Amino acid sequence: MILVRMLDYGHFLVVFLVLTMLVVSKGTSVGVNWGTVTSHHLPPEKVVEMLKENGIKKLKLFEADEKILGALIGTDIEVMVAIPNYMLQQISQDSGAAESWVYANVTGYHYPGGVNIKYVAVGNEPFLQTYNDTYLHITLPALKNIQQAINKAGLGSKVKATVPFNADIYNSPVSNPVPSAGEFRADIRDLTIEVIQFLHSNDAPFTVNIYPFLSLYGNSFFPLDFAFFDGTNKPVRDGNMVYNNVFDANFDTLIWALDRAGYPDMHIIVGEVGWPTDGDKNANIRNAKRFNQGLLRHALSGSGTPARKGEIDIYLFSLLDENAKSIAPGNFERHWGIFEYDGKPKYELDLLGFMENRGLVPVEGVTYMLRRWCVLNPHADDFEELPDSLDYACTLSDCTALGYGSSCNNLSIQGNASYAFNMYYQINSQKPWNCDFSGLALITDKDPSDDNCQFPVMIVNDASPVLLHRGVLDVFLRFIGQYLVFVLVLI
Ligand SMILES: *[C@@H]1O[C@H](CO)[C@@H](O)[C@H](O)[C@H]1NC(C)=O
Ligand SMILES: *[C@@H]1O[C@H](CO)[C@@H](O)[C@H](O)[C@H]1NC(C)=O
Ligand SMILES: *[C@@H]1O[C@H](CO)[C@@H](O)[C@H](O)[C@H]1NC(C)=O
Ligand SMILES: *[C@@H]1O[C@H](CO)[C@@H](O)[C@H](O)[C@H]1NC(C)=O
Repeated sequence: MILVRMLDYGHFLVVFLVLTMLVVSKGTSVGVNWGTVTSHHLPPEKVVEMLKENGIKKLKLFEADEKILGALIGTDIEVMVAIPNYMLQQISQDSGAAESWVYANVTGYHYPGGVNIKYVAVGNEPFLQTYNDTYLHITLPALKNIQQAINKAGLGSKVKATVPFNADIYNSPVSNPVPSAGEFRADIRDLTIEVIQFLHSNDAPFTVNIYPFLSLYGNSFFPLDFAFFDGTNKPVRDGNMVYNNVFDANFDTLIWALDRAGYPDMHIIVGEVGWPTDGDKNANIRNAKRFNQGLLRHALSGSGTPARKGEIDIYLFSLLDENAKSIAPGNFERHWGIFEYDGKPKYELDLLGFMENRGLVPVEGVTYMLRRWCVLNPHADDFEELPDSLDYACTLSDCTALGYGSSCNNLSIQGNASYAFNMYYQINSQKPWNCDFSGLALITDKDPSDDNCQFPVMIVNDASPVLLHRGVLDVFLRFIGQYLVFVLVLI
């Protein structure tokens, strides 16, 4: 009897330990944002495989992409799907539209062995100042309609609607010199608090995007060290609290604003946080690794911020570079990925936050186009058309790596031209007629890249039948070419 009990006890211990480990490993997990504003897409199944290989358990999307959700079926990755801003108007007015959105994009995947959808993001930064109030009065009605539709589908306890806000709803250095002065922006305070009240009553999190890089980018007097997590000689003192990094100061400004509004216990998700690797003098691999690794170590350590202890729930921005994003905010906008456009890791990053140099696993089995590039013809001598050609190529492709402080800023004038021509050629899937530029350009199989500056070769776009045909056509044309050479040799 006693033996049995001891066995039971041993059993219990094992189960207890396993459970503890599960709980701990569930807690220490970072999420990633997967944006898809790119000219060429990796196959979603391969990206999902890579997420699993890297132990990434939480994913935030900007839509409810059918192919991505399809690839997530059967995984236990926790997913936040999203409703883009342009849909808010209709969803705010029409509960039927909300119901069909939820039916198609949540209910349809939410079954045992389906997709582990946990959140629906309603809009993206809808109160952003630059949107000029466009979404101010439709966000809360849309949020309510979506949560009601989720509840109606019987998923209310499992799936929560939230709204990802930009930190500009509270983070004004003028009105909030220290975190404890934190308040929501006066023009939207009442509306924001109504949203918070609804989220809170529904046990849903408050989601905020925090960008220390932008603090640095927007202010040439910003102390560089304060953007990172390794300490600074200019800490911000706020009563008996000391801030060594702007992330904590920003986060705690929100804590105080929530506290003032009467919601001191609100669960907070940091929906986007990260650092770009190109397109600005502070956007490079060294800084991105320093920021992201410091952030992970800090967020997962449980030490929290001065005003709130515990792990910080963060989603890195972002997973992959997006070469077709608007560069209105700056050239860095296309370079936020911890992975390149083709799924190669840019630097080592330990996602568990231990700061050992653990590498990331790349996307495996990526199909590239042929190793060839479009460059300035070295024998070209009439450059009259060149400025217009460059302008055209850059406008319709991506020259964000050429600017000041960026990875390809040290190219010669000729190098600049080649870079622009190549980007245009690659983004147009290497069609021969996209490498002409009034005879100034030619195709080469010699890689023009140097140590700093990569001239990319495009990936084959996922499931594009047109490209598939191009591939066949290519092989055919090369075959004809070789055949002609063969005939010529014979003659
Ligand atoms: C599902 O979501 C996608 C992406 O947001 C959207 O285009 C589509 O219209 C949604 N489906 C319905 C029925 O609303
Ligand atoms: C917001 O208003 C400003 C000034 O009136 C205007 O220049 C800008 O284009 C507007 N932005 C949007 C997104 O409507
Ligand atoms: C470009 O050249 C300058 C001056 O020679 C150098 O300081 C800088 O590091 C170089 N940048 C890159 C990206 O190679
Ligand atoms: C190359 O282009 C970039 C971006 O337009 C510019 O800053 C740089 O000065 C150019 N380099 C040369 C040598 O003209």
